[in-house]
Parts: sequence; C-alpha cells; structure tokens
Amino acid sequence: MSTSHKAHCLILPYPFQGHINPMLQFSKRLQSKHVEITIAPTKSFLKKMKELPTSVSIEAISDGYDDGGIDQAKTYEAYLTRFKEVGSDTLSQLIQKLENSGCPVNCIVYDPFLPWVVEVAKKFGLISAAFFTQNCTVDNIYYHVHKGVIKLPPTQNDEKILIPGFSCPIEASDVPTFVIYPEGERILQVLVNQFSNLDKVDWILINSFYELEKEVIDWMSKIYPIKTIGPTIPSMYLDKRLHDDKEYGLSIFKPMTNECLNWLNHQPISSVVYVSFGSLAKLEAEQMEELAWGLKNSNNNFLWVVRSTEESKLPKNFLEELTIEKGLVVSWCPQLQVLEHESIGCFLTHCGWNSTLESISMGVPMVAIPQWTDQPTNAKLVKDVWEIGVRAKQDEKGIVRREIIEEYIKLVMEEEKGKLIRENAKKWKEMARNVVDEGGSSDKNIEEFVSKLVTIS
Ligand code: UDX
Repeated sequence: MSTSHKAHCLILPYPFQGHINPMLQFSKRLQSKHVEITIAPTKSFLKKMKELPTSVSIEAISDGYDDGGIDQAKTYEAYLTRFKEVGSDTLSQLIQKLENSGCPVNCIVYDPFLPWVVEVAKKFGLISAAFFTQNCTVDNIYYHVHKGVIKLPPTQNDEKILIPGFSCPIEASDVPTFVIYPEGERILQVLVNQFSNLDKVDWILINSFYELEKEVIDWMSKIYPIKTIGPTIPSMYLDKRLHDDKEYGLSIFKPMTNECLNWLNHQPISSVVYVSFGSLAKLEAEQMEELAWGLKNSNNNFLWVVRSTEESKLPKNFLEELTIEKGLVVSWCPQLQVLEHESIGCFLTHCGWNSTLESISMGVPMVAIPQWTDQPTNAKLVKDVWEIGVRAKQDEKGIVRREIIEEYIKLVMEEEKGKLIRENAKKWKEMARNVVDEGGSSDKNIEEFVSKLVTIS
C-alpha cells in the first residue's frame, strides 16, 4: 500500500554514529512510502562527516558548540544544558524556515536523549515520535530504574534480578553498565530522562522487531504507544525492495572498502573471524594484547577493525609481524558488506546494538565481548535468549584472556557444540528479512505510522 499525500518528517538524531545510522535508515523507509524527510544533525557533527547521503535533505541545528561538539564542552552536563538551550532555538528557527519555504514539517522524530524536543514540537503543534535506538529490553531496564521499581546495583554480584516484563532472570553483569557503576551515574540520568516527556509524545519507535523481544514489547505496549520498526539496515541487505539502498551514507569514518573486500575475496567460505568494537569503545591495552595474541594463535584468519585512536595499544611489532595471509587490520570497514561476505564465519563483537542487529540480519554467529553501556544486556540476549552466540568470560581483572578467545572462536565456528548457534543465526536472518518485507511486523508498523501522518497532514 502506498500513500498519496505528502507528510514531512524532521529527523533529530543524537550526535553519535551509533544513533545516526538507525535513524537515517528509518528515514529511507519513510521516504520510500512517500514521506518527505529532512534530517537535522548538529553543525559540529556534520563537520566531522566523511560521507553524506544524497537521498535525503540535510539541515543543521546547533548544540552551542559548533566547532567541537561534546569535545569542546567542559563537562557532559554543560554540553547537555547548552544543547537544550541553543538546540531549542535553532530547531524552532529551522521549523520556521521550512514553513516559509513552502515545505512545512508536520512531525518530528527525535532521539529521546534530547527530551526537550517534545516541547518544541508542542509549541508548533507538530506530531512527535521518540525513536529509541537501543532495544526494548534495555529500554525496559532504564524505565524501571526511572520508576524506582528496581533497586540497583544488587547487593551481590551473582544475585538474580527479575525485571517486570522480562521473565529471564539477569545478574549484575548483564545490566547496562551505567546502572551498575557509580561513575556512570551522570549518563544514567540522561538515559532515565528519556522517559521524562514520553507521556506527551504521539509515538514511540523502537529499533528492534517484535519477534525478537515479544514478551517485553507486549509488556511495554500496555504503558506506551510502542512500534518496533527494525532492523534498520539498508534494504539491499534485507528485503531488497529499495534498489539504491545499499550503504549507510552518514559516517564520521572513512571505510577501507577495497582493502577489506579484496582480502575477503581470497578467503574460504565461513573461515574468517570479523572483529570490531564499534565507534566509541576504548579497550584496555591489556585487553588489546590478549585479543591480538588470541586472534593470531587461533586457527582462523581475521579481519580486525582497530580505530586509529586505538592503534597505539596494539602489542609491539604485532602489525609488522602479521602476515597478510593470516590477518588484516584496518581503521574502519564497510561493516555491512563485510558481514554479508560469504567468507565470514563469526563476529567477535562488543555487542553494540547496531552491530548486534546487523549480525542477526546477516545470520552471522557472535562471540560477545561487551564493554560498556547496553552491551552486556545485548550479550545476554545473544547468548541466552536467541542462542546465536557465546559470551566470553572475563577474569577477575575484567580481561578476556587469549585462551578463552581461541576456545570461543572455535566453538562458534567449528565445533559440534556450536551447531545450534549457527543454525539459530540462520533462522533469525530469515526472520529479519521477513519483518521488513511487505506485510512483516515492522513494515506494518511503519505503514501505520505513515498513514496516521498522512491523515493528519
Ligand atoms: C554506541 C554504543 O556503543 C552501543 O552499545 C549502542 O547500542 C549504540 O551506540 P557503537 O559503539 O558505535 O554505538 O556500536 P554500534 O551500535 O555497534 O554501532 C556501530 C556502527 O558502526 C554499526 O552500524 C556498524 O556497522 C558501523 N561500523 C563499525 C562500520 O560501518 N565500520 C566499522 O568498521 C565498524
């Protein structure tokens, strides 16, 4: 079904790579259903972009730190306070500018890290939709911290915690790190504040799909108008209905595409370990060293993304001694093309939510080494709920040792014990395609969202 009237959505992402990617992909889905899109990152973020999409209009708002963004602010609190103040003004000006130019906006889709956007939307009488980039299980945990229903941290590390709406008991090591560690308290406030304005919004969009998290989605739907709309992956990796939709196209890093794909083309099917820790995580030097030797000692060849800011942590002479037959280390890769490549046998990942959803969508089993934020909870889901990967054990210093890395890679890629994991990964890949294809659960939710927009416009 397609719609005939034009609705216009202004998309307001939080200026992080892992937040912009899913919002841009969702925008493309809306656009394919005849919704006009303007995406409005901050000026400082826009300056850092190495790649820009050609398919959507881009305008910028200001966070008050146009030269350096968050890095320019003295503290995180100072950044958020100024962003709210300057962001509200510049967003209002943008809405007026679009109105004056004959392209009025009728809906704002915003990242709930920026809850003040709802006030601006109300001032202009616009529909508002909060877009949660993380999954519903994680959102549910933050919701219960917000409500004071669960008291964390638990008194003992192995104490089982039951979260309403999620019947699988979890332990402290499965909970988002900001909830557990006192140094994460300021960021926890931002995450908890995501719920502060939610009673005023018209929609809550979640970057996940119903079949992945049925129980918790059913539970949260009784409280909020939730719609799952994921996986937010370019269509050509999923349903293939949007023919020119292959790449993300809003990146602050430059991928080493040719190097990666040429190298992968020379590797046997399902033989390569792909390793990446996303755009933000900073590993301990000791962990980098264990990883390096674990990968080098394993039977498999590897493609490892080490961001340039992390490179100095590689062990001495590691790169010099690495043969091209055994492994390739790059500063950034085209992750979707890599995961899609037939040579990839497993993904050793930090379990950032985008990486997890991408791995699910490509049917690649995972070895999870979560670092921080929502990643431990995502790893719990990967291992115990979907059974599509393993979670590598840390020692008492919090480091995953080289022997464990070798052992888990082997388990996931070769051993009989890992067979169920490999089969489950294939099943979820199929499901991920079905949900965004015509009539699938996410496609229906997007259709419903679009038809309401059109009716109101
Ligand atoms: C952050 C948090 O870490 C994550 O836990 C949260 O869910 C979202 O925000 P990030 O650490 O960057 O995100 O990880 P992730 O969510 O996995 O996003 C990384 C994105 O960068 C993915 O879309 C991935 O495809 C892309 N990527 C990564 C590349 O394109 N090339 C690379 O070499 C590495």
